[in-house]
Amino acid sequence: MSTATFTSPALSQNDESAQQHGESLPRALRPLAAVTGAELRAPLIQGGHVRYANLDYGASAPALTVVSAYLNEILPYYASVHRGAGYASQISTSVYENARNIVRDFVGGRPDDSVIFTRNTTDSLNLLAGCLAVEHGKHSGEVLYLDIEHHANLLPWQGVPHRSIVAADTLSETVANVRTALSHGGVNLLAVTGASNVTGEILPIGELAALAHEFGARIVVDAAQLAPHRRIDIAAADVDYLVFSGHKLYAPFGAGVLVGRPDWLDAGTPHLAGGGAVREARLDSVSWATGPARHEGGSPNVLGAATLARATQVIAGLDHDEWHAHEAAIRTHLVEGLQQIDGVTVHQIFSDTDPRDTIGVVNFSLQGYDAGLVAAYLAAEHGIGLRDGRFCAHPLLKRLGLPSGSLRASFGLGSRLEDATRLIAGIKALQSDGLGWDYVVDAGRWVPANDHRSYPEWAPNTPGTAGAAPCSTD
Ligand SMILES: Cc1ncc(COP(=O)(O)O)c(C=O)c1O
Repeated sequence: MSTATFTSPALSQNDESAQQHGESLPRALRPLAAVTGAELRAPLIQGGHVRYANLDYGASAPALTVVSAYLNEILPYYASVHRGAGYASQISTSVYENARNIVRDFVGGRPDDSVIFTRNTTDSLNLLAGCLAVEHGKHSGEVLYLDIEHHANLLPWQGVPHRSIVAADTLSETVANVRTALSHGGVNLLAVTGASNVTGEILPIGELAALAHEFGARIVVDAAQLAPHRRIDIAAADVDYLVFSGHKLYAPFGAGVLVGRPDWLDAGTPHLAGGGAVREARLDSVSWATGPARHEGGSPNVLGAATLARATQVIAGLDHDEWHAHEAAIRTHLVEGLQQIDGVTVHQIFSDTDPRDTIGVVNFSLQGYDAGLVAAYLAAEHGIGLRDGRFCAHPLLKRLGLPSGSLRASFGLGSRLEDATRLIAGIKALQSDGLGWDYVVDAGRWVPANDHRSYPEWAPNTPGTAGAAPCSTD
């Protein structure tokens, strides 16, 4: 496929100048994979429509069109899983069980690793928290975690013995501090994110796994952000547990996953007590099943698991260099463009982060403007969707000096360089011309005043009534 002669019909001046910077940029001008909603038109508050620039992949990525086509293909066969002798039930069961193998391959799992389907990353981490090793009725150690974690990888550990440490200014010092904390003993699980959902910085999971093991602990990696952006090989990296969500991995149909060593999982408290999780149930006692079934009580989400597995196959088939060049080109363009605007600060946790070790997430703020107001302005006046708030990482935002939040642009396979260019132009316009409309706070969120834009008739909420962003308000 030739990329050298590609010109986008919507190529802006910024894209044209960016195009001159390197060979890889033309590839970045267009999506790397087709996603649903790519040509969605967003209504503008001052009238007219514009292509929706989705810069919120980090919250929930759009479905790959291959995945939504696969969903339609298997839907006619949808039936009960593990519970029926009928043709469709057999097929549904086969699809569901085979999804485990596909996901295991995707993460480089060991042959005996359990693959448990859950609702999402949060669910997976809560499940693991219920399985921490208990000896003689007491937890046999503490969970250690950094203060940079998403609440999903922080709150489940507060219900068990735990210890937290504050990340240092540099990644190298932070790793050294983790070593020191582990060397004091008593830790049985190190819980760490693969990539920060706030800044996109990647953590060295192989190195951290080696440290954990050196001091007799295990490691769980929250790959909610990492898995959609980087290949992961848990056997090679010696990671014990890995969790991620389908809705961030281009399969927004309600499944997440926990992959990892079976011993704790087979001994742990069943995540959902109920049908399917038992060997034998009596009126007032039960023998629990082992294996994934132990934690998957109730009818499983076969379509969620199957589509998640299908998405992993598409991602596994990406050309590694093309994938990273696409992401790096958009990120570099966005960071450089934002940094040239007066009053914009791009935030990161560590001063020594190698830009190559960042995923498609850029965090920034604009001096003098509330992040929520900027997000509302970009949506209403430019048709750009991004996230504002505290990103369910309150301790980190506080330490970064952003107690009232910031803005996060995130992108992925369906993104175009033009999306970043539009964001830069929108922020520049705000800086030079100010707001073009009045905005008010409604249910904790900034929204345009007198918003008369129409929504599809099947969308029951009128604009401005959707409530506050999760984790953004006090
Ligand atoms: C790093 C990280 N961990 C965990 C989560 C929670 O994911 P979910 O909402 O799918 O449970 C998120 C979601 O934003 C995240 O970014």
